[in-house]
Amino acid sequence: MQNTTELKAAVEKYIENLGLDNRKPANLYQPMAYILSLKGKRIRPILTMLAYQAVSGQQPAHAMNLAVAVEVFHNFTLVHDDIMDRAPVRRGNATVHIKWDENVAILSGDALLAFSMDMVTRDFPEKAAQLVKEYTHVSLAVCEGQMEDMDLAIQTNATIPDYLEMIRKKTAALLGGCMSLGAIAGGADLEIVSQFREFGESLGIGFQLQDDLMDAFPPEGFGKQVGGDIIENKKTYLLLKAQELADPGQKSKIDELLQKNTESKVEEMLTLFRELDIEAHTQKLILSYFDRAKALGQALSQKTKFEPLRSYLQEIANRQI
Ligand code: IPE
Ligand code: IPE
Ligand code: MG
Ligand code: MG
Ligand code: MG
Repeated sequence: MQNTTELKAAVEKYIENLGLDNRKPANLYQPMAYILSLKGKRIRPILTMLAYQAVSGQQPAHAMNLAVAVEVFHNFTLVHDDIMDRAPVRRGNATVHIKWDENVAILSGDALLAFSMDMVTRDFPEKAAQLVKEYTHVSLAVCEGQMEDMDLAIQTNATIPDYLEMIRKKTAALLGGCMSLGAIAGGADLEIVSQFREFGESLGIGFQLQDDLMDAFPPEGFGKQVGGDIIENKKTYLLLKAQELADPGQKSKIDELLQKNTESKVEEMLTLFRELDIEAHTQKLILSYFDRAKALGQALSQKTKFEPLRSYLQEIANRQI
């Protein structure tokens, strides 16, 4: 059994050997090779392989094409997300739409999606129908979540339940999908597949909450623009919790900041977040989702070889970046 560091290295090598940067037209394939070559955490393919291994008892790398399909899909969402979020930096480097342009980013994102679809069933043709159904369901959920993210950004009455439902779709659906696709490939029955999906979704909600927290309070080597969510008026838990806890003076300050786009907007919003102890409130909610995932994992460890997933969950929960 390979550990997760070895699995990550195997994923990177596999991606490198896809040979995307030699294909033509170069303006389509080079951005695809570029985004895939930047140093991501590769959480999704690792989860997919570990889920496959937990159910089947086989070597995780037997599901490499499925795992890389999920990573390629994720990179498609990142390229389009960075256009939508007007983000200049991704994984410490220029985003595709900045390095090339928006048309290139739209098309190479589309091509990443198509490329990933081609890989989903390659390792397990006998399970193609179930894998494609799950993959399609997840893809639609991600699009719905991304639309809700954009819709909420221009709404003034967003609630915390709206936010949680939005991140369940835009992020947790894919992490749930890594688990369910891996379990399907491993031959799990429907009940086990749905328990794996649920584990991945809880982990995914915790994961997106961590991401939102880091956007405001970045760790060393964060690799994205700091305060991008504040600049774009994203209705994150941080903002919604701040609105809930704010006194009337702080409330009108928040409203005022949401109306403007000055240089000091990020700093002023961060000051309010600090006054209201938003970091601690967010950490508490993050912990509750990881605890829920842990409990679901406990139940699954009676039925599958779940230990590597249990420890990988802990690694994600402790992550600094
Ligand atoms: C970024 O995902 C998008 C979110 C859903 C938060 P990751 O934080 O997994 O990004 P990479 O792949 O490691 O760069
Ligand atoms: C993105 O959420 C989720 C996706 C489906 C790509 P974010 O917009 O917060 O992700 P980052 O912070 O840009 O990575
Ligand atoms: Mg973004
Ligand atoms: Mg976004
Ligand atoms: Mg983010």
